[in-house]
Amino acid sequence: MPVKILAIETSCDETAISVTEAETKKDGTQFHILSNQVASQVKIHAPFGGVVPNLAKREHQKNLPILLRRAMEDIRRPLGRRMSKPDAVCVTCGPGLEPALWTGIEFAKALSKKWRVPLVPVNHLEGHIYSALMSNDQFLISNKNLFPLLTLIVSGGHTELVLSKKHLAYKILGETLDDAAGEAFDKVARMLGLGYPGGPVVAKVADEYQKSKIKNQNDKAKFKITLPRPIMHSKDLNFSFSGLKTAVLYLLRDLEKKYSMKEIRPAVAYEFQEAVVDVLVKKTMKAVGQYEPKTIALGGGVAANDRLREELSKKLNVLLPEKIYTGDNAAMIAVAGYYRLQAGKFAKNPEKTRAVGNLKL
Ligand code: KG4
Ligand code: ZN
Repeated sequence: MPVKILAIETSCDETAISVTEAETKKDGTQFHILSNQVASQVKIHAPFGGVVPNLAKREHQKNLPILLRRAMEDIRRPLGRRMSKPDAVCVTCGPGLEPALWTGIEFAKALSKKWRVPLVPVNHLEGHIYSALMSNDQFLISNKNLFPLLTLIVSGGHTELVLSKKHLAYKILGETLDDAAGEAFDKVARMLGLGYPGGPVVAKVADEYQKSKIKNQNDKAKFKITLPRPIMHSKDLNFSFSGLKTAVLYLLRDLEKKYSMKEIRPAVAYEFQEAVVDVLVKKTMKAVGQYEPKTIALGGGVAANDRLREELSKKLNVLLPEKIYTGDNAAMIAVAGYYRLQAGKFAKNPEKTRAVGNLKL
């Protein structure tokens, strides 16, 4: 019998609810995403240049009942009947912004109590790990040749290389010593006057520059820019992006003496993106060499970056998440939560489930 999971994600500035059906058979688990509702708060936080936790909390409180109603409608439409109740409620309990996480947790607790079904706490990062294994709205996660699974998680708060030898077992092989890759994109975007969130817009400017003829002209003439690739050649599998961000700051100070921001922005965005991608690819290749995984996956908001996707795919046989699953969503929380439910890892005392801002894998 398929199991129906209702999942809730409110760790940052996206409110998300999904309903997913899952059934484990001989060869693996078949998932069917019946509803994947995401309400983005980007426009609300943009004027502040970043996510304001209490604003996020207020918006989550407003959005959750609306998304729940929509998710229930999504299910009713194809089946022509109401889903009386799911078999479990999964919720992200960390890492993330605690006021934001609490909103989802309290909402999930109320639902699990009302429906008398288990409450399953899920780590946001394991959601990102499973996101690369998801495709469209119906897919099989096969157990054959999946493990060892190496995942590069690149998001606004994390940059980690994680090795899993089985479901729900995570070993962090390397992580950022300071800023996360997404955070560096966001900070550099601010320096370049490109607004928030920075990743997509820096990537857009950089990609246009790469394609345009200006690059060739600039390479020859105006400014030849090279930014550092911090700790790219270090023996370990850690990352560091704070020095790169500072290097961008000094570079801009220098260039702005002679050129306008409009002139230098594309070349700087381009070189910055190249530097981040070079380091991420190099360290992932190093981890592959050391641990010989059967599957390599990419997850997290920065997984939407086309240059990163392109360079990783050139060098490795890597699973890329579909763009609908790169950013924060509840479908990935449902998938991770399903494995937790199957393993009996639900809250024994749901009332005691808490938000843990710095929760580790
Ligand atoms: O996973 P995510 O949605 O939220 C967190 O869990 O942090 O990741 C958000 C991060 C932001 O820093 C955003 O700027 C970055 O992902 N991002 C990108 C791109 N799209 C989103 N970074 C680089 N290139 C992109 N195309
Ligand atoms: Zn995330």
